Amino acid sequence: MDKLKSVEYGLEKIFEGAQDFLPLLGTDYVEFYVGNAKQSAHYYKTAFGFQSWAYKGLETGSKDEVSYVLAQDKIRLVLTTPLNSQSPINEHLKKHGDGIKVIALWVEDARKAFEETTRRGALPFMEPRVEKDAFGEVIRSGIHTYGETVHIFVERKNYNGAFLPGYVSWKSDYNPEPLGLKFIDHMVGNVDWGQMNTWVKWYEVVMGFENFLSFDDTQIHTEYSALMSKVMSNGNGRIKFPINEPAKGNKRSQIEEYLDFYEGAGCQHIAVATDDIITTVAGLKARGVEFLPPPPQAYYDDIPRRLGKHIQVMKEDIKKLQDLSILVDADEEGYLLQIFTKPVEDRPTLFFEIIQRMGAKGFGAGNFKALFESIEREQALRGTL
Ligand code: FE2
Repeated sequence: MDKLKSVEYGLEKIFEGAQDFLPLLGTDYVEFYVGNAKQSAHYYKTAFGFQSWAYKGLETGSKDEVSYVLAQDKIRLVLTTPLNSQSPINEHLKKHGDGIKVIALWVEDARKAFEETTRRGALPFMEPRVEKDAFGEVIRSGIHTYGETVHIFVERKNYNGAFLPGYVSWKSDYNPEPLGLKFIDHMVGNVDWGQMNTWVKWYEVVMGFENFLSFDDTQIHTEYSALMSKVMSNGNGRIKFPINEPAKGNKRSQIEEYLDFYEGAGCQHIAVATDDIITTVAGLKARGVEFLPPPPQAYYDDIPRRLGKHIQVMKEDIKKLQDLSILVDADEEGYLLQIFTKPVEDRPTLFFEIIQRMGAKGFGAGNFKALFESIEREQALRGTL
């Protein structure tokens, strides 16, 4: 309730429009709380091609938790597990299962990021904190967002260590090849019934984001279920956070299924960009990543019509895309190729999207129906439709 009060409080403040009071340089890292970080790290290395990057644990003096940092091009994942029953991380794991706790944002000035956002109503998670080691200093601060998820602001201009003070470089003898994942394109939050606009406003007021695209339940629906989505973008467009909420349908939507199993709002998927989706997805499949089953033949037969003028410049062979179940969509500016994994935990919660943009700025709205029908077939198998 406190958080909602803080949102209302933020709305009373003067919204400073186009002025970017929170310049964001990019996504710094994404931290997962997991039940067994050692095994999760093995999965993300083996299946997704992430590289061993940094580590903290008992050997480095971290008595209460262990964290493995994995990297692939600009993406950094942190996998954290508590080392005893006293750690508050256990409560997060008990409630949500494995999931994303931190979406960390890279900033020039973490103190100012904290001041500006809390002044506009953000609930503080971590007061600005200076962390030092032999490689320099990092300043971090943090605020709460939807559910139990937080944003941490990371100022690292005076630091040249592997990751953060307290971590050491992680050298491993096991280093599967990377698979061409380059950076985080967007990260989607699922929020409860009636909460989408609250969080859209929160990102506008507290973070200075703008509503970049909107989809309502008349656009995103199948025979059974529906959802609404608004895409929030920061000033320079580097950070995009679509926010979803469920909408009324005949059966339980995938957003409701997520909210039931995550036991609240949380991050639904991370979309990672590649320059060559065919090679990336073929590699991921060969390494055991499970994707949603393909749409029917008619979907692929219809691609030339849906792509319109862009079919002239499309380099990829449609048959190859179909063999890998890759989806295609287009907007005025170009086309995009995308595919969605099955949830990467036993609870049907977080999943990944792989996306290759060929000029298109959208999110695959033309694929929503095919995608959701595919998810519903999976939900039916789980008995959760
Ligand atoms: Fe997405």
